[in-house]
Amino acid sequence: MAKNVNLKKLISNMTLEEKVGQLIQLNAVSFSDSAAEITGPVQKWGIPAEWINKMGSTLNFSDANEMITIQKKHLENDRNGIPMLFMMDVIHGYRTIYPIPLGLAASFDPELVYECSRMAAKEAAAGGVNVTFTPMVDYVRDARWGRVMETAGEDPYLACVMGATQVRAFQGSDLSDKENIAACVKHYAAYGGAEAGRDYNTVELSERVLREYYMPAYKACIDAGVKMIMPSFNSLNGVPSIANKWLMQDVLKKEWRFDGVVISDYNALGELKVHGIAPDMREATKLAFANGCDIEMMSNGYYEHLCTLVREGVIDEKKVDAAVMRVLKLKKELGMFDDPYRGADPEREKALALSPEHRAIARRAASESAVLLKNNGVLPFSKDVKKVAIIGHFADNNEIKGFWACHGKNEECVTVAEAVRAKLPNAEVVTAYGCAPLWNDKSTEGFAEAIEAAKNADAVILCLGEPQTYSGEGNSRADIRLPGMQEELAKAVMAANSNCAMLIFNGRPLVLTDVNECPAILEMWFPGSEGGNAAADLLFGDSVPCGKLTMSFPKHVGQCPIYYNHPNTGRPKWTAEDVHQAYASNYIGCGNRPLYCFGHGLSYTKLDYEAMELSDTKMSAEKPLTVKITVKNSGSYAAKETVQLYIRDLFASTVRPVQSLIAFEKIHLEAGEEKTVTFTVTEEMLRFYDASCKHVSEAGEFVIFTGYADHKYKEAKFFLE
Ligand code: NOJ
Repeated sequence: MAKNVNLKKLISNMTLEEKVGQLIQLNAVSFSDSAAEITGPVQKWGIPAEWINKMGSTLNFSDANEMITIQKKHLENDRNGIPMLFMMDVIHGYRTIYPIPLGLAASFDPELVYECSRMAAKEAAAGGVNVTFTPMVDYVRDARWGRVMETAGEDPYLACVMGATQVRAFQGSDLSDKENIAACVKHYAAYGGAEAGRDYNTVELSERVLREYYMPAYKACIDAGVKMIMPSFNSLNGVPSIANKWLMQDVLKKEWRFDGVVISDYNALGELKVHGIAPDMREATKLAFANGCDIEMMSNGYYEHLCTLVREGVIDEKKVDAAVMRVLKLKKELGMFDDPYRGADPEREKALALSPEHRAIARRAASESAVLLKNNGVLPFSKDVKKVAIIGHFADNNEIKGFWACHGKNEECVTVAEAVRAKLPNAEVVTAYGCAPLWNDKSTEGFAEAIEAAKNADAVILCLGEPQTYSGEGNSRADIRLPGMQEELAKAVMAANSNCAMLIFNGRPLVLTDVNECPAILEMWFPGSEGGNAAADLLFGDSVPCGKLTMSFPKHVGQCPIYYNHPNTGRPKWTAEDVHQAYASNYIGCGNRPLYCFGHGLSYTKLDYEAMELSDTKMSAEKPLTVKITVKNSGSYAAKETVQLYIRDLFASTVRPVQSLIAFEKIHLEAGEEKTVTFTVTEEMLRFYDASCKHVSEAGEFVIFTGYADHKYKEAKFFLE
């Protein structure tokens, strides 16, 4: 079919069944060739072969070969010659895996995020992917929720920057370019507000809080041109997103004017029954379709009811045509009518996967995502050490790619022990397992070997954390400490040898209070294919830690949800950290502050914030403020630093957060070098949602500071006129 395919004409020639087929997404097993393999929806819903040929898209296929096979067969049987769309969760890499998004965001480096996303886009496009279900920009505050691993953490501004960057990187400036793929922002809206951090749970939020914290990142992705959006599973203020008129119609379509494709989440229509919102699939179909769901992913509402609803006059066929038009427009923009196989190329897919260039990007990303939480001087270790003991479940374990790692394979991830051995060919490197990181495993059998190894070593690397399956979809935890006997193991090992550093592999902030006496703690997240190499680079000083926390690490799980940008109370706590203050908003036996705050992250070098200068003490909409911050590297390592700028609005008509990040910039400083970063603060950056949900700024006094959450290196005041 020609490039200038006339979509209107095409739609006018389609039967109602063919149109509805464009609005259904089934998984790839549904298109399997072999009768023996018939599983999934085809078996479950008894979908006949002639319907299968009408389907507009699929997800979860294996590679370029399978894409080509399915597409070929489809085109042979579809009289309209409309190619299928192939979609996939390319979340933090396709085959070359880079750190989980929560970790990558800790790099505070949009250019690095762009580079990683480009790498993923190229690999995925070669693998036959046309659309990725990325970026996930759900705003989060509760570390118990397993899907925090997919987010940019607890700051809405950071989520906007990282989300929009991913959209631009995946889609490029021309979607028909075969190295670009369409992005799908998710999960609209407020999926991350799940009560008690339990996945899929109810979300109840005021419109003001929604708009101020949860909505900006979806909007930022729409402004960046994202082609698709996925409503969330959760109910929001009583109504599941896919059926939520206010969300889907009033805000998304009318206010934000989103005109791309809306795709349901997996079986979200089916879940309307379970929620008790729709008595059956017919009603679920009516609700979802009326609220703008174009493609139904993996449930049988549209297949079973949409044609009938149109024929009965309940749904206007013109609305079906409009939804089909949105889907076909995307196919056209992707260039599918010219080349239905697009970039799918088994040879190229193979060549790009884990190529040296891609491994190098993944290694740098893993290193820049790591956060040095604590260091009393043991790190970096000397490369002259003779004997190294690497202890713990993750010592020589390749299960470090994390959840949602697409086609990444554990066996393609470099372990810490492999990397340390490669870096120190002359040292004796001993590993000891210690114990399993499983919440119900109480075995201490491996302790003796671990203690022995620690005693005999010059340097000890403790590699602890949680299994990959303890975070990600459906994997919430009530107790977010190191699972199993790992705390006991850490204490025993530290007692045996104090020249000890701890690496943590995990998908969420953990409560590290009971192991915080460790001389050095390096948060690695799930770092991906090059995790071990990145860890070894950091441990032995070949790279210098520069990550900053994107989510606060609580002292105790009872503090959850805990977030740096919280509103003030009328009775905030003023006394010393862990002393309980009567009749103030605080806990008995646990301070209010987290163990490690948002924005925290150490370096091996010494970074001095020399000065913060404001262009004036007053600003206005017409006259923005210029803020110059000078940072000096007075240590002996070249290093990167994220200069962070926060404000506090001292008086306003609604209670304002005690601090909000409004800008950041990552700089590189040679040893001895000094640099000045210039930020422009505009009136727009000072706006907030007032009690009637108007986005306003109010004249008055503001505090502005640089440092990180709760830590003011330099501070000043100014007035907005
Ligand atoms: C369910 C998840 O919530 C969503 O993030 C994902 O994109 C879809 N399944 C498809 O795998």
